[in-house]
Amino acid sequence: MQRLEVLARQLTAGAAVEDRTPLLATKNDYDTMYKRSIQDPEGFWGEMALGYHWDRKFPARGHMAANTDIRRGPVSIQFFAGGTTNMSYNCLDRWVAAGRGEQAALIWEGNDENERRTVSYRELLAEVNRLSNWLKSRGVKKGDAVTIYLPMVPELPAAMLACARVGAVHSVVFAGFSADSLAQRMVDCNAKVLLTATGVMRGTKPVLLKTIADDAVKLAAKAGQETSSVLCLEVANALAAADTPWNPVRDVWWHAAVPMQSAECEPTWLDSEDRSFLLYTSGSTGKPKGVVHCVGGYMVGVGVSCRYLYDMRPGDVVFTTADCGWITGHSYLAYGPLLCGCSSVIMGGIPTHPDGGRAWRMVERYKVRQFYTAPTLLRSLLQLGDAWPRQSDLSSLRVLASAGEPMNEHAWHWFHEVVGSSRCPVVDTWWQTETGNAMLIPLPCKWFQAKAGSAGVPFFGVCPVVLDPTTGNEICTTEAEGVLALRGVWPGMMRTLHGDHERFESAYFAPYKGYYFTGDGCRRDADGHYWITGRVDDVINVSGHRIGTAEVESALTEHPDCAEAAVIGVDHALKGQAIYAFVTLRGHVQTSDAMRKLLMDHVRKSIGPFAVPEVIHWAPGLPKTRSGKIMRRVLRKIASGEEKELGDISTLAEPGVVDMLIKLRGK
Ligand code: WT7
Repeated sequence: MQRLEVLARQLTAGAAVEDRTPLLATKNDYDTMYKRSIQDPEGFWGEMALGYHWDRKFPARGHMAANTDIRRGPVSIQFFAGGTTNMSYNCLDRWVAAGRGEQAALIWEGNDENERRTVSYRELLAEVNRLSNWLKSRGVKKGDAVTIYLPMVPELPAAMLACARVGAVHSVVFAGFSADSLAQRMVDCNAKVLLTATGVMRGTKPVLLKTIADDAVKLAAKAGQETSSVLCLEVANALAAADTPWNPVRDVWWHAAVPMQSAECEPTWLDSEDRSFLLYTSGSTGKPKGVVHCVGGYMVGVGVSCRYLYDMRPGDVVFTTADCGWITGHSYLAYGPLLCGCSSVIMGGIPTHPDGGRAWRMVERYKVRQFYTAPTLLRSLLQLGDAWPRQSDLSSLRVLASAGEPMNEHAWHWFHEVVGSSRCPVVDTWWQTETGNAMLIPLPCKWFQAKAGSAGVPFFGVCPVVLDPTTGNEICTTEAEGVLALRGVWPGMMRTLHGDHERFESAYFAPYKGYYFTGDGCRRDADGHYWITGRVDDVINVSGHRIGTAEVESALTEHPDCAEAAVIGVDHALKGQAIYAFVTLRGHVQTSDAMRKLLMDHVRKSIGPFAVPEVIHWAPGLPKTRSGKIMRRVLRKIASGEEKELGDISTLAEPGVVDMLIKLRGK
């Protein structure tokens, strides 16, 4: 226990900078801490949380409570109850006070490699304070939702931190989403304030964000949600302020309104269980779910995971390629590295622009220590050849992390051998928007034997179980294969779905009573390492972007010429999975390539470019059971040309449909 306290204290500001004593130096260290985290989660996390500033301390005992068994009543989770804190204070003020004010907090490069900006901790704190004061001046109060629709510029993490400072609940919407999707998210959480930008260059393509934001504001108003203020950042090279559509009553220029605010702003001390942010993600059915994270638990979960799982220490330079529109950007680009006193590198462009060396030159330029990316990006970079990484000095790298989708062995070896010169551990972590922080991880420790393609072992407090999908029973043997579920609770866990606690319970806690259902399949090997085998529900993972088949289907069927649609995921060499849609047109409509394009454009407009189906397969009918359920299993076989392995199709209402679909493949 004493040792734990020492470790917890090391987390605080002012800890010896050069102290690189390895954490979890032996297997026994991990085993001991892990065991304690499961046996006494309240005591364990209580001590871990001491590494952060609490304005009012939570009691050592009685701060934690949880029920995850719906048979015993509503699902509820709380950590550090009774304590008050503020994440922006822990990310910024604490480090400025500890003498790190001049250190870079954010290091940014734009789409054009010569656009560079470094923001020190002191400057970031001042900017966050000004923005906080602006939010207050617009009437934003604790608990109010604020939508952020910004490209990858330093102002994006600053906006998140400003919300955190005043207790507003941010909802960052990835700037690749369409006006419809943005509007839907603004309406769902009643956001009155929107932060956006003129536009952004992505590679050689300008994206006019303000125009999309304006459309979204109109759509939201139609749905009864008025937007009172739109704060707009002028991003050079994309669209000049003068050419930006403007509504003088509602729109405010960032450069006119924010700099004149005071650079002082007292943080609002929030209860540990107050809401921190919302992040919308896809489920297997229905509209996107607003995952709710709370202040104290999220902060401690993310901070401690950065420290132990990615070895982040004050002064380290962390480069995460994820966009802040997704959870990886929240946890491991914005909050996590700043909670650890690191410098976080932001890449505003795309890693293959202007060439395949972009990311590696950035690693060299900033002496990046932790590089955190996703398998899709690795696959696209490795295709461009080994010469690119070899042209840069990558010797500063120590930890190579990845998350979001299964990592194939080829990508793993390339990452390990070519990027890391076989020196750095590859940390392929499994987790989800809902879990807040990394859950399964090959530990970046010398003693840990990582295996290419495996997500390793559980993080503190994580109790993975493998369930038999048919009986729902736990498979207790070490070697096991089935559905991945989690027992118990951890601080970074989501607390509910915004406005729909019932859906929260039915989606995650009803399928297997007493457990949190992840939606993933997995295998546990003889060494107790976990291997994720992919989603077992109707969620597709395209380039690490999570998309519900139901969302794409509903976008397709919104088109007046589309009678019915069934969407599945198929293997794709680069993207991991691609979207494959079977479409039945209305009786009078002819199939044609022009029709295909219309439907694809419709999905682009309705969700965003990343959700556009790769293939549209014309379907005069769909294989359904007699009760009308679409047999996706059959569709998957047809799409992949494995019609010899269709399995039992005796329950199909119209078996003739299958032959018809096979004939139409590629037509
Ligand atoms: C889904 C969650 C990791 C946070 C960003 C994505 C898949 C995630 C891995 C991995 C295989 C993975 C799962 C999971 N996934 N990490 N290391 N290996 N699959 O968060 O958008 O909420 O998606 O991503 O299917 O359920 P997300």
